[in-house]
Amino acid sequence: MIKGLIFDLDGVITDTAEYHYLAWKSLAKKLDIEMDRAFNEQLKGISRMESLDLILKHGNKENDYTEEEKQELATQKNEEYQHYIEEITHDDLLPGIERLLKEAKEKGIGMALASASKNGPKIIRQLEIDELFDGTVVDPASLRAGKPDPEIFLKGAEILGLKPEECVGLEDAEAGVESINAAGMFSVGVGSEAAMHKADYIVKDTKELTLDRILKAAEK
Ligand code: G6P
Ligand code: MG
Repeated sequence: MIKGLIFDLDGVITDTAEYHYLAWKSLAKKLDIEMDRAFNEQLKGISRMESLDLILKHGNKENDYTEEEKQELATQKNEEYQHYIEEITHDDLLPGIERLLKEAKEKGIGMALASASKNGPKIIRQLEIDELFDGTVVDPASLRAGKPDPEIFLKGAEILGLKPEECVGLEDAEAGVESINAAGMFSVGVGSEAAMHKADYIVKDTKELTLDRILKAAEK
């Protein structure tokens, strides 16, 4: 029986995946590296420094910067990203998400957040959903391995006091879906069939996410 939902944040609960993309694209441009949306799919769910490494590799510049310079570049990206998220309010919940969170709460379904983003706590406060995730946000700084490793989703289940098979994970990133699957949970992928083909259940849009549908699919 499903007793918990473990959410990714960026691109599932709110559209910050777009802001990550815009901020990385702007940094890449300064470094004379081309990046498009197709390449960006690889960055979803991946930590800040890992994303930077992938971008530098993509531009054949992986040996051009010292560790210190890379930290500085990541900081620049984060500063631009933080400008975007400054404006986030409750209205920026993606369609269907507020309803899903409410339904889950009413039914006593546990909810945890499994986001690699260090900006996650700030974003959920601005979205005014932080109380729903009180004490159930996995701290990405505590992880030994990021997505696609299952650690982050397993920690989410542990915080909820649930077994992995009692949880559903929701993701918009390929690496995230792999992480959920490796954790032994039912995976819900938000996005195109092509990007989400490894998910157990795919929706094109968060609008389609109702508790009923998710539970029916997971408990089949
Ligand atoms: C999420 C996003 C990634 C982002 C990562 C780290 O996983 O999908 O695009 O790079 O979080 O976010 P941060 O806010 O810590 O830079
Ligand atoms: Mg995401």
